[in-house]
Amino acid sequence: MKNTIVITGTPGVGKTTVARELARADGYRLIELNSLAKEARALSGEDPERGAAIIDEAKLKREIAKALKADGPKFIVEGHYGEVVPPRYVERAVVIRLDPRILRLRLVERGYPPSKVDENLQAEILDSCLVNAVEAFGEEAVLEVDATGLDFQRLVASVREAINGRGLPPGSVNWVERLQKEGALHDFLR
Ligand SMILES: Nc1ncnc2c1ncn2[C@@H]1O[C@H](COP(=O)(O)OP(=O)(O)OP(=O)(O)O)[C@@H](O)[C@H]1O
Ligand SMILES: [Mg+2]
Repeated sequence: MKNTIVITGTPGVGKTTVARELARADGYRLIELNSLAKEARALSGEDPERGAAIIDEAKLKREIAKALKADGPKFIVEGHYGEVVPPRYVERAVVIRLDPRILRLRLVERGYPPSKVDENLQAEILDSCLVNAVEAFGEEAVLEVDATGLDFQRLVASVREAINGRGLPPGSVNWVERLQKEGALHDFLR
């Protein structure tokens, strides 16, 4: 029954890029949650303050459960709200992490408004996706991968290792500590 790898993390860390390559190279079936939510019409409007789509979680969960029932190759499900995948299918959840200083550049480059950049940086610093994954799937199912300084191929290799059980246990990445040590924490407190 456990036929699914979840790849989650804050927007911009590289989930979709990595998941597509793993699907191509390793033969997974790929479910991109953003696309599935759109296709399944599981978007119930837009939050005007946050400029982000509101997900109809119940509907999305039903669609995912329907898809994951199929026999055959394993699935990768990727998205920043990976915790919507029913835990009974989840063999492993990999949380991609990225130094907030790099993430900030990426999100600004994407053209996100400052409030949305800040919201996502806070989420990364507070380990939001990690916490959600551990709550949903249990500590033993979750591993972190620090993408900082890894080029695309090395990141793909690290995520593949984590899928196979070799990675950083939850709690390994600590941006507050690292930023503080490097005198950069004040840039992220407001
Ligand atoms: N290892 C890497 N090194 C440098 N840039 C990368 C790397 N991985 C991804 N990127 C770039 O970062 C950007 C974000 O990647 P991607 O769209 O895969 O993120 P995501 O986690 O899926 O974000 P979202 O949650 O918003 O869908 C892209 O422009 C991608 O090319
Ligand atoms: Mg994506």
